Amino acid sequence: MDILTSTTESSLRDRARLYDAALIRAAATLRLADLIDDEGSSLDDIVRDLGSDRSATRALLFALVEVGMLATTGERRFVLTEAGSVLRSDHPHSIRYALDRHGVFARSDIALLFLDHTILTGAPGFDALGGRTFWEDCSDDDALEMQPPQNGALAMDGDVIVSQYPWHRATQVLDVGGNVGALAHALVAAHPHLTVGVLDLPGIAAATADRFASSPHRDRLHVVAGSFFDPLPPAEVYVLSAILGDWDDDGARRILASIARSMAPHSRLLIADAHVPLSGPREELYLRCMMPSPSRSIDEIIALAADAGLSLTWRGIGTSVRSLLEFQTMREGAAL
Ligand SMILES: C[S@@+](CC[C@H](N)C(=O)[O-])C[C@H]1O[C@@H](n2cnc3c(N)ncnc32)[C@H](O)[C@@H]1O
Repeated sequence: MDILTSTTESSLRDRARLYDAALIRAAATLRLADLIDDEGSSLDDIVRDLGSDRSATRALLFALVEVGMLATTGERRFVLTEAGSVLRSDHPHSIRYALDRHGVFARSDIALLFLDHTILTGAPGFDALGGRTFWEDCSDDDALEMQPPQNGALAMDGDVIVSQYPWHRATQVLDVGGNVGALAHALVAAHPHLTVGVLDLPGIAAATADRFASSPHRDRLHVVAGSFFDPLPPAEVYVLSAILGDWDDDGARRILASIARSMAPHSRLLIADAHVPLSGPREELYLRCMMPSPSRSIDEIIALAADAGLSLTWRGIGTSVRSLLEFQTMREGAAL
């Protein structure tokens, strides 16, 4: 019985332990794999390149050998194993960005440690860290790492925003909470008459401006640093893509009311919400730890918009994970 208990304990401890995860993530955040060439690198090479503490770096390198990310050569050099090589930034299946503590994904993984807070309150785990939202924390990170540009399809069937909405009716678009401008970029590339602005928090906006500077469409792209809770610049179409899921109903109403206040009578708001499929309780809790409302129904979105003074003017076909709903403001004198 004692043996059984201690085996159970140690297996549970193994399942709950964070230590290997922390080692691998430290290597990803420090871009360690990028510093190790095919002939291998010595401890001194790595300490010099990182500007790091020698004894701590030595311990990290040998710990990474223990977990199979690195191997040592006879010349006391460290080389990447096959498993370790996916930590290189230029590996075709690189996972470095996904594990970088200054990136969006690894930062949201940290929220998982506060799942108990989500269970007690329904709020994202990140809120337990005190006061600021997840995105404010990203925006304020001086070492913020934004996702490398993706050349494929937009996430969560976002391509239907580009293809299904009647864009010929507008020229000036503002993508509210437009992040690093993937949608904005796809819009100007597909619709040569459009000019698209991205409004986002200051740190994210700065990263987006850097990206736009090298775009062939940069003349029709611009960035606005600010908050969607403050008055927004004028636009014919405001887009809100995959934003509302990050907010509970009160927060979503506040965002929608803020946009409604900024809208002119002829303006439209396109809510292109993502509906994340929840495949089971583990998946649901994983998402709920990051976002309070991963899968609102279309009727719920229309009701929240109505609370904020917005009436439905158009509904696209969308897909099972992406809806397209257009609104105008019901403010007195604002209806067409
Ligand atoms: C889930 S991402 C959605 C990004 C993008 N719209 C898309 O479709 O992929 C949420 C975005 O909202 C932005 N955001 C969060 N709070 C904000 C605020 N108060 N004002 C402006 N943007 C904000 C974040 O910085 C982030 O870029």
